[in-house]
Amino acid sequence: MDPAVDGPGGPAPLLSSDVTLISMADERLSEETGAAEDRFLRACRLQPVDRTPVWFMRQAGRYLPEYRAMRKGRDILEMCRSPETATEVTLLPFRYMPLDAAILFSDIMVPVAAMGADVRIESGIGPVVEHPIRSPADVRRLRPLDPEADVPYVFEAIRLLRKELTVPLVGFSGAPFTLASYLVEGGPSRSQEMTKAFMHGDPARWELLMEVLGAAVLAYLLAQVAAGAQAVQVFDSWAGTLDPDDYVRFVLPTMRQIFGGLAPLGVPRIHFGVGTGELLALMREAGADVIGVDWRVPLHEAWERIGFDVAIQGNLDPAACLGPWETVEAKALAVLRRAAGRPGHIFNLGHGVLPGTPVATLQQLVHLVHERTERASADGAEPESAEEAGPA
Ligand code: CP3
Repeated sequence: MDPAVDGPGGPAPLLSSDVTLISMADERLSEETGAAEDRFLRACRLQPVDRTPVWFMRQAGRYLPEYRAMRKGRDILEMCRSPETATEVTLLPFRYMPLDAAILFSDIMVPVAAMGADVRIESGIGPVVEHPIRSPADVRRLRPLDPEADVPYVFEAIRLLRKELTVPLVGFSGAPFTLASYLVEGGPSRSQEMTKAFMHGDPARWELLMEVLGAAVLAYLLAQVAAGAQAVQVFDSWAGTLDPDDYVRFVLPTMRQIFGGLAPLGVPRIHFGVGTGELLALMREAGADVIGVDWRVPLHEAWERIGFDVAIQGNLDPAACLGPWETVEAKALAVLRRAAGRPGHIFNLGHGVLPGTPVATLQQLVHLVHERTERASADGAEPESAEEAGPA
């Protein structure tokens, strides 16, 4: 059975032993082409690949029936605190499709909860903070993060996963601005009014908050790499709400420190944000190896803005995956056409998989990307689709 081409009826449920079957198939592939297992890491480094790597943000989530079953009656943060559960959930999507990277199952609020923020995650809403940060005393209440002591379960999950996985494991963290936004607003906010009032009203205290969170994020990611994460992604999901001047003044310095601090480890660093079209050139200055882009800017334009000497990840609209396959296919092929077979493209959605996404759509998508980008050899030959479709 090829799980990548199962029809819209959904996949036959696989037993967990089948995870190994897929892994073995990938290993065989690797022997044939020499690059299946590390095509994701190679693409992050702008090296030629045998096929364009593909994975999905939130690939371990509610669109999967097993996840919904495991989630019943359980709190998501509690699930994140069990290394066995986190490991099992991380591996779930591999029962269905041969993704080129795994992302640790956790949440961006896990470390800030361990620093003393009273946060819970509400289904359908997101993180909710009972006592938001509003005063100088609130900022001081955040303890510095001692990763191994405060969140040992994260590193245990990473160690367990490295024993199971044949594809690279991506560790992650929320970026200081996005974490601060939840802490200050007390929940998700479109306008970021209170966060902006905070940064403009008391820049010195904002700087202190960025310092505290920046140090925590760097320590957290360093510890994830030490435990075995082979790449890291920093989610600055709300950065796109800032104008470029404020981004430069209030966010960029901390992002530079984080990516600079990770540089000596040599693992690929991915910098992702939503609605960041006008910030892409500035995000490049933060120093990551890969920039993750949402769907609002066509891939080739986004790539021009960051420069072709940096890798790019994206950028299919996740909402398109709720529609008919023909639409998904056309849009995915447009992304590939815009990538034009250049080294350094990692196929992904422009944001996380939405809960109503049919599993079969993602299976077909993985298959499509792999099939249409197959290079004659791993030495950087143009993919067929780029030639067929012509320039975007
Ligand atoms: O598969 C993966 O991508 C790995 C796991 C992962 C989760 N959260 C698990 C999760 C990752 C990478 C995250 C990151 C995360 N969490 C971000 C950054 C990425 C983004 O979406 O912008 C943010 C902002 C959060 C905070 C958060 N946690 C939100 C907004 C939500 C969704 C709330 C909802 O119900 O719509 C969560 C909950 C959450 N974290 C889910 C998952 C799989 C949803 C499923 C559930 O409630 O069980």
